[in-house]
Amino acid sequence: MQKTTLITGGAGYIGSHTALTLIEAGQHVLILDNLCNSCHESIGRLEHLAHARVDFVEGDIRDTPLLERLFSQYDIDAVVHFAGLKSVANSVCHPLDYYANNVVGTFNLCEVMARFNVFNLVFSSSATVYGEPAHMPIFEDAGTGVPASPYGRSKLMVEQLLADLARSEPRWSIALLRYFNPVGAHESGLIGEDPSGRPNNLLPFLTQVAIGRLPELTVFGNDYPTADGTCVRDYIHVVDLAEGHLKALQVLRRDPGIHTWNLGTGIGYSVLQMIRSFEDVTGVSIAFRFAGRRAGDIAQCWADASKARRELGWYARRNLEQMIQDSWRWQSSNPYGYRPPVELSAAFAH
Ligand code: NAD
Ligand code: UFG
Repeated sequence: MQKTTLITGGAGYIGSHTALTLIEAGQHVLILDNLCNSCHESIGRLEHLAHARVDFVEGDIRDTPLLERLFSQYDIDAVVHFAGLKSVANSVCHPLDYYANNVVGTFNLCEVMARFNVFNLVFSSSATVYGEPAHMPIFEDAGTGVPASPYGRSKLMVEQLLADLARSEPRWSIALLRYFNPVGAHESGLIGEDPSGRPNNLLPFLTQVAIGRLPELTVFGNDYPTADGTCVRDYIHVVDLAEGHLKALQVLRRDPGIHTWNLGTGIGYSVLQMIRSFEDVTGVSIAFRFAGRRAGDIAQCWADASKARRELGWYARRNLEQMIQDSWRWQSSNPYGYRPPVELSAAFAH
């Protein structure tokens, strides 16, 4: 039987790009996703790009009998674990959903993995686990801080759970990948980020203003201690991120233990720089206004990504212009994402 990489949450934004990267590298993948924040269409598009059928199962990582069936049916030797909820604001209103999906879901997955002797795991962590760091850039050994939301705390709890596992059983080989700010889309414009409802993140908000779905961008805070007063972040192209997962899997398969790698570019851009760059690259002007600070935002955050370069042979190759071009191509060729609104679907049908 062919070795299989299980990708939980593989119908989502980062998962779909990573699935494509792994398939292109010759790996057999199985996607498990409950589609709570994605849809079948992304799998169809993935199959189109991969020129192959993709094994997909609709289901939940908390469904133990389902996981047991999948681990029995396929020769799974590694799991890339994206499944989880990710909205910082939503997590404040619905903390239990975040702990259930992100923490209990991961606990359940690990339990079944151990029972089936599968010990290679790549986990989607986040720079949010650093809290508000005292120094920039952020190194992996800076120590974790106090994340500002239940979402952030759920990521930190899972990191701690996985570190305990690795200490308890030497066969575990775990990568904690701390993403900075993923943006962009596959260069085909066929797969990309498809937020449901009003976007929380900067880039999808910007592209929806540019396409005319939203009237203007609100810039949260212009009184931060940064060069222009707006927050600085390390934006990273989602395909670079996907390639980081491939590299991490390769290292895990030969080097057990627990590894932590920052996946970022090492360069920070302010919100105003992002708006100006977007206008320069696309030629579309962005209406924006300043408002007060958003609760939980830190002033600045960018990675030292030299550990990933040294140990994984990985670095982010795509620059800001490519990130913006690819985000814009995705948004302009799919103004309503994967799912046109009902009235538009009806119009297409006639
Ligand atoms: P996404 O919402 O597009 O993808 C997550 C996928 O998981 C979705 O398709 C969703 O339907 C699925 N899912 C959620 N709960 C599930 C469950 N219980 N069982 C099965 N499937 C489930 O999000 P994304 O941006 O691709 O993020 C992927 C991972 O990376 C998440 O864990 C997220 O927390 C983490 N992360 C994302 C960012 C970011 O800015 N996008 C930054 C840091 C970390
Ligand atoms: N911003 C605006 N207006 C908006 C949206 C965002 O001004 O409409 C600003 C924010 O205030 C922040 C910057 O743009 O200064 C980036 O905000 P995002 O929401 O895009 O990203 P965050 O840095 O807040 O968080 C993201 C992910 C988290 C992850 C974190 C890791 O959403 O899941 O990166 O650094 F934990």
